[in-house]
Amino acid sequence: RREYNIVVLGAGGVGKSCLTAQFVQNVWIESYDPTIEDSYRKVVDVDGKSCILEILDTAGTEQFKIYLKTGKYCLPYRLILEALLINGFLLVYSITSLTSFQELTPIRDAILRIKEVDDVPLVIVGNKSDLEGDRQVSKNRANHLSRKWGNVPLYESSARRRQNVDEVFFNLTRQLMKK
Ligand code: GTP
Ligand code: MG
Repeated sequence: RREYNIVVLGAGGVGKSCLTAQFVQNVWIESYDPTIEDSYRKVVDVDGKSCILEILDTAGTEQFKIYLKTGKYCLPYRLILEALLINGFLLVYSITSLTSFQELTPIRDAILRIKEVDDVPLVIVGNKSDLEGDRQVSKNRANHLSRKWGNVPLYESSARRRQNVDEVFFNLTRQLMKK
């Protein structure tokens, strides 16, 4: 069985852990417990093919990023090695936070620089789509980014309602299976 490494990236509180928990364990988490780093394994069947996903759920909050940056000497090497081992990326923002959307560009830039490529398997995820009344990022604006990046798949999801959760992970898996 083929195995793929996926990483979930994005600003603090956008719902990375909730999306991952819904996908891997079918549970909804109401409380907010900032992540340092967690990883999960899941066997999935996509288009009749079975594969193993190794999913790394990362820290979005500054508190933990600053903590990681203090490890000046060994951490950059570790991060570079990790990025090289990662096959696919979920870049998550919240539709209720413009700043979380604006963080996606520097994240993608860093990935491309580290991997020394122009293009990488990626899905853009606008989470918290159930909070329409608090929307700060229009679908149009997100579509524009997707086009700018070469028509990267874009989904609006709700971890709370479990909408587009499987779709996001399966889309990325399909991209990886084609490679
Ligand atoms: P860090 O680990 O700090 O980077 O945050 P995170 O991106 O993992 O966010 P997390 O999944 O912990 O969710 C943060 C908060 O947002 C929690 O209180 C969740 O219940 C809530 N939340 C996550 N997804 C959704 C969603 O789709 N809709 C709504 N309404 N709330 C959500
Ligand atoms: Mg988290």
